[in-house]
Amino acid sequence: MNGHSEISKMQSDAMSSSVLYPKLDRKQLLITGSKGLMLIAEDGTRIIDATGGAAVACLGHNNDQVKEAIIKQLEQITYCYSQFFTTPPLEKLTQHLTESTNGEMSKVFVVSSGTEAVEAALKMARQYFTELPQPQYQRHRIIARRQSYHGNTLGSLAVGSHKARRALYEPMLNTQISHVSPCYPYREKIKGESDFDYVERLAQELEDEFQRVGPDTVCAFIAETVCGGTLGCVPPVSGYFKAMREVCDRHGALLILDEVMTGMGRTGTYHAWEQEGVIPDLQTIAKCLGGGYAPIGALLVNRRVVDILNQGTKVYSHSQTYQGHALACATALEVQNIIKNENLVANVAALGPYLGQLLQKELGDHPNIGDIRGRGLFWGIEFVQDKSTKEPFPVQKQLAGNIHLAGTRKPYCISLLPGNGTADGKNGDHIILAPPYTVTKQELEEIVRRAKMVIFDVLKSID
Ligand SMILES: Cc1ncc(COP(=O)(O)O)c(C=O)c1O
Repeated sequence: MNGHSEISKMQSDAMSSSVLYPKLDRKQLLITGSKGLMLIAEDGTRIIDATGGAAVACLGHNNDQVKEAIIKQLEQITYCYSQFFTTPPLEKLTQHLTESTNGEMSKVFVVSSGTEAVEAALKMARQYFTELPQPQYQRHRIIARRQSYHGNTLGSLAVGSHKARRALYEPMLNTQISHVSPCYPYREKIKGESDFDYVERLAQELEDEFQRVGPDTVCAFIAETVCGGTLGCVPPVSGYFKAMREVCDRHGALLILDEVMTGMGRTGTYHAWEQEGVIPDLQTIAKCLGGGYAPIGALLVNRRVVDILNQGTKVYSHSQTYQGHALACATALEVQNIIKNENLVANVAALGPYLGQLLQKELGDHPNIGDIRGRGLFWGIEFVQDKSTKEPFPVQKQLAGNIHLAGTRKPYCISLLPGNGTADGKNGDHIILAPPYTVTKQELEEIVRRAKMVIFDVLKSID
């Protein structure tokens, strides 16, 4: 089928489907099976899922042990209302999570997605200040960062700063949120500036923002520990989070670390913050918690925040029907047990640098590849029109989206996670690689081989 007739077929198939596809006139590839690294399409094509969907499938697909755990739980209890009851999987999963922080984060609120975890964190941040012995009701602001993504409900979208995703809803978004620079050395570190000076500059900017809005009005500063979807896997420079923590502490504001995309081992430590020398007050997790086997996310709450609630109302003013869902918790618990028992975080830490080196060696010299960065099994490739000016491709080219689309077709058969808005929230493209923690060296070599092929071909085809 030529390109034109393929598009017409996709359009007519989309019209006859009841699914509200992201592009209403584009039927998506029908995936009917999976195993390990592979997604299997209806015609039998095997596609390497190099990103575990949206950096989710940390154990790969179709894991027998997880399936068994799900079936076992189905025979016990799948759902009961967490406002009334608790269940063994909810107890065990939350205990596992608090223990993984040595008890620093002492309570866990389990929800069904990353977005919901972020909403729960924002509410907890606000509530914390109303529960203090001398309540600070004037605290209602959040400081976040540009080119960040924290979810897609109106609350979490307002906190993030992806211009394109926000644009349509701008008039409805909370205006009590402001944004400072991300830690994005590729574009924003000044030539000749040391990491130390760069961090000092960013700390000063955060301090200035506190002063501008009034330090006693700010509940929290929120950041992704390693920037994911919008910037494309950018680790912070050394000392960054310690400096941000200091600014927050100076003003009594909370530090919220959003590890929805990077928690549970993705960056080579179980919690991404372990590599930053800070402990958050509130932490959100989701994707690799359930590994794609259950829609699940969670808010982890630091002991010192919990203590304040315990001395106050003893009530968390937020709830959802599916919070603490027993089947989701049992599923996530099994995923986490496998990560632990099979020592998979060590595999991530060991293979991460190898993936980085492979990408650098195979793709680094291409004139349109501006930067390759990442940590653990979480790597981003940023594209530019011109390496010296770092000028991004115009958004109309849809470069990253086209790489993804072409990748899923023959001869490449690889799914890569596209991102845009990299350079300024609107312009700029990157793709993300986030293979499962179980990946082998040989599989990484095949992933890079296919990624290179499709990226170079698509770059060649754009004028
Ligand atoms: C850092 C971060 N926070 C929050 C979210 C929202 O999570 P979800 O899509 O599960 O609602 C995402 C999703 O990509 C994310 O990367």
